[in-house]
Amino acid sequence: MSGSATSSTYQALVQVLQNRRSIRQFRPEPIADETIRALVEAVRYTPSAGNAQPWEFIVVRDETTKRRIGDIYLEQLKQKNRLEMLRRPEWRFFGAEPPPLRAGFVQAGVLIVVIGDPRLADAYPLRTKVDKGRQHLISSLSNVVVTLHYAAAALGLASQYLSDSGSPEMELYLKDLLGIPEPYRVYETVCIGHTDVKPSSRYVKAFDEIVHLERFDAGRFKTEEQIEAHIREKLRPAFKKVL
Ligand SMILES: Cc1cc2nc3c(=O)[nH]c(=O)nc-3n(C[C@H](O)[C@H](O)[C@H](O)COP(=O)(O)O)c2cc1C
Repeated sequence: MSGSATSSTYQALVQVLQNRRSIRQFRPEPIADETIRALVEAVRYTPSAGNAQPWEFIVVRDETTKRRIGDIYLEQLKQKNRLEMLRRPEWRFFGAEPPPLRAGFVQAGVLIVVIGDPRLADAYPLRTKVDKGRQHLISSLSNVVVTLHYAAAALGLASQYLSDSGSPEMELYLKDLLGIPEPYRVYETVCIGHTDVKPSSRYVKAFDEIVHLERFDAGRFKTEEQIEAHIREKLRPAFKKVL
């Protein structure tokens, strides 16, 4: 029956959605060509604004190149950690002091650098291009990245976001390292591989926390203090475990 939560397709989808977790430790084991093909086959159907499909993928499996990407990341992380120290100690992302620098993703069998071509914004109506060109590029690339993560999970593989790839410094170094020409943008790196890590349970918002029926329920509007307490109590503790 259409719309039934008991259909096997829905159940299989929910299982993949629930099983995908961010894993930040990999077993150094290669990823076969056929796995790369299966991943790309799945993501080719990702929705994109104007069906522009502004994505291309640099598939990195060479150990030296992966290590070089790890070095670039760590260099940027030092600066990121220095900036974090400007916050009051109890509010720092990593706690009072930064943890030891590490780039566990270098062990992942493949690093897929997702790049986007902003010129495809010409596929949109002119007003949309002017008004939303940048936003649509980001949303479309974000879609393809999340599809990659789910495709990896469906193949029984672990995956990790490396969103710092799109930060100005890392983007420039990655473009140089991987020969990515202008005007492409580096959006994200998706690290995929085998793992022995069993992820701990995660905090997921409940139906009633996120759904307003028919109208925004003003009684559930959160004050600044409530948001701060929520970040401190619900969100930060999870990162203390994985950093
Ligand atoms: C836009 C975005 C950026 C993210 N950046 C990173 C990242 O740079 N490094 C990382 O380890 N995880 C990153 N994550 C993963 C989140 O931390 C993770 O999805 C979240 O904590 C929930 O955990 P889960 O993926 O295991 O469900 C990112 C996720 C998103 C959606």
